[in-house]
Amino acid sequence: MTNLTLTAEPGGALGGRLRVPGDKSISHRAIMLGALAEGTTTITGFLEGEDCLATLRAFRAMGVRIDGPDQGRVTVHGVGLHGLRAPTGALDMGNSGTSMRLMSGLLAGQAFDTVLSGDASLNRRPMRRVTEPLALMGARIEATEAGTAPLRIHGGRRLSGIDYPLPMASAQVKSCLLLAGLYAAGITRIAEPAPTRDHTERMLEGFAYPLVREGGRTVAIAGGGTLLGTEIDVPADISSAAFFLVGASIAPGSDLLLEHVGVNPTRTGVLDILRLMGADIEMLNPRLAGGEPVADLRVRHAPLHGVQIPECLVPLAIDEFPALFIAAACAEGITVLTGAEELRLKESDRIQVMADGLTALGIAAGPTTDGIVIRGGALSGGTVDSRGDHRIAMSFAMAALRAGDPVSIRDCANVDTSFPDFVALARAAGLKLAVREGA
Ligand code: S3P
Repeated sequence: MTNLTLTAEPGGALGGRLRVPGDKSISHRAIMLGALAEGTTTITGFLEGEDCLATLRAFRAMGVRIDGPDQGRVTVHGVGLHGLRAPTGALDMGNSGTSMRLMSGLLAGQAFDTVLSGDASLNRRPMRRVTEPLALMGARIEATEAGTAPLRIHGGRRLSGIDYPLPMASAQVKSCLLLAGLYAAGITRIAEPAPTRDHTERMLEGFAYPLVREGGRTVAIAGGGTLLGTEIDVPADISSAAFFLVGASIAPGSDLLLEHVGVNPTRTGVLDILRLMGADIEMLNPRLAGGEPVADLRVRHAPLHGVQIPECLVPLAIDEFPALFIAAACAEGITVLTGAEELRLKESDRIQVMADGLTALGIAAGPTTDGIVIRGGALSGGTVDSRGDHRIAMSFAMAALRAGDPVSIRDCANVDTSFPDFVALARAAGLKLAVREGA
């Protein structure tokens, strides 16, 4: 992938109305469940980002006919739970942790072997969190000595359901085990330490597959059923909307409407945290789209103040912290985050990389083992390195709205993994953004 540098001019405001691309988590799951269903699934609003395209290509490589994507429209001709065919080579998951972790669960139940690999970032990320519980279910998966990809998943194994208390709040691990549970004898029951996004559960129900949710934190599934193809309208991704929520909140004069945003309560921690900081965000026209709550979000500039972020909100805003750290840098006073060690295990070490970038822009940002302490202040311009992390790149682009001089961000090609139209949409909303090839 060619490398890109983004440079954002300082100042300005965000305005107008826009729809950010489709939800990444829901788009992945729509392809996976559509492929394993009986009959046809039509998807609209599909995210045509590199991560979801990696999932789509992997199912094509296993013999699933998939038409599109064409302006967010995808038709998946399901092959049923036992209709996948062995791919001819390794499946390349690119930068996508969701593809690798979720697919390792469903591939553990196949009759054939598969190899899953990724880019340098993904091949560094921890996979024992999925390989260990899958082994308890009877799967055989080989990883590197460090417990990382490439993963060789052996087929022809008999899986059995387990009762598994998740050691960390992770929707990817929960979803991996639910997908393996489709192939397991008996019941697979997963208990979470804290609620995480429940798109897999909602979508399984949308495909007419029964689930039992026990209390807020336990879900159980019986193997051996059937998924029925359906229609899925993917809402705009609140994780992509988050950059604009922060940008409009910090930039005086901003007034922006974000349309058709997914507001599933397991994803709206970013709204709660920004509101705690004093943000002015209205949720308009709430409705349901394909089993998922959706609304339009109106955000206007408001003076922000530092907060102690409640730990219960961490899993509900896990992907939005890079953007929230920019809000904290523009807030009056100190913001403290704890209980967020998972951030060190994302596409980059998001605590360290954000602290380095904020420091380069003149903000006092002190990383801790499980979080960060940020003192709001005046942002200078400067150059930051996104370390190939899409969400860090887009967060620092928004920081320019309050910077004294231009902000240049290196290593931005991976913005395409989750938000292929970012530059065009950010410009349309008022950000003065230039793109240059090279480091
Ligand atoms: C995701 C879950 C989260 C999130 C990731 C997408 C999902 O990861 O960070 O971007 O689609 O299930 P964890 O479940 O590992 O926290």
